[in-house]
Amino acid sequence: MPEVLLLNGPNLGILGSREPEIYGTDTLADIERAVGEEVAGRGWRVVARQHDCEGEMIRTIQDSYETVGAIVNPGALMIAGWSLRDALANYPRPWLEVHLSNVWARESFRHDSVLAPLAAGVIVGLGALGYRLAARALVATVP
Ligand code: DQA
Repeated sequence: MPEVLLLNGPNLGILGSREPEIYGTDTLADIERAVGEEVAGRGWRVVARQHDCEGEMIRTIQDSYETVGAIVNPGALMIAGWSLRDALANYPRPWLEVHLSNVWARESFRHDSVLAPLAAGVIVGLGALGYRLAARALVATVP
C-alpha cells in the first residue's frame, strides 16, 4: 500500500499539553489519525514519525524515498535546520511544510524558514486543520 510520511519535529510529541493557547489541544495521535482519514480514500496509509533530534529526522527522510509524499512540521528547525534542509532537498517526492501557529504573527525569529523554498506548499496558522489540508493537497496533486 502506498505510504505518506507524516514527520513532526522537536517538541511536537507533547502536543495537547504544550502551550495549548498557541498549538491547540489536539494531540499528535489525533493529528496522525486525521491525516490517515484524509488519505485513506486514495488507498494510502500514513507512516507517522516524531523526532526531537534533527539527525533522527534526517534518517527518517533518507529511509522514506519510497513514500508518495510527505507532510513535515519541522518545529523550530524551520529556523536554522540546514542539515534537515539538505535531507529534504534529496527527498524525491512532493512535501508540504505545516505549522500549527501563524509563525508570522509571532516572534521575529520565527519569520523565516530555511526549508520552505523547497516545499510544494506551506500551511501556517490553521492549527490541526492545517495537517488535514496538507493531506488533501497531496491527495489532489500527487499523480
Ligand atoms: C511550530 C512553530 C515553530 O516556530 C515552533 O518552534 C514549533 C511549532 C508550529 O507548528 O506552529 O515548535 O512549528
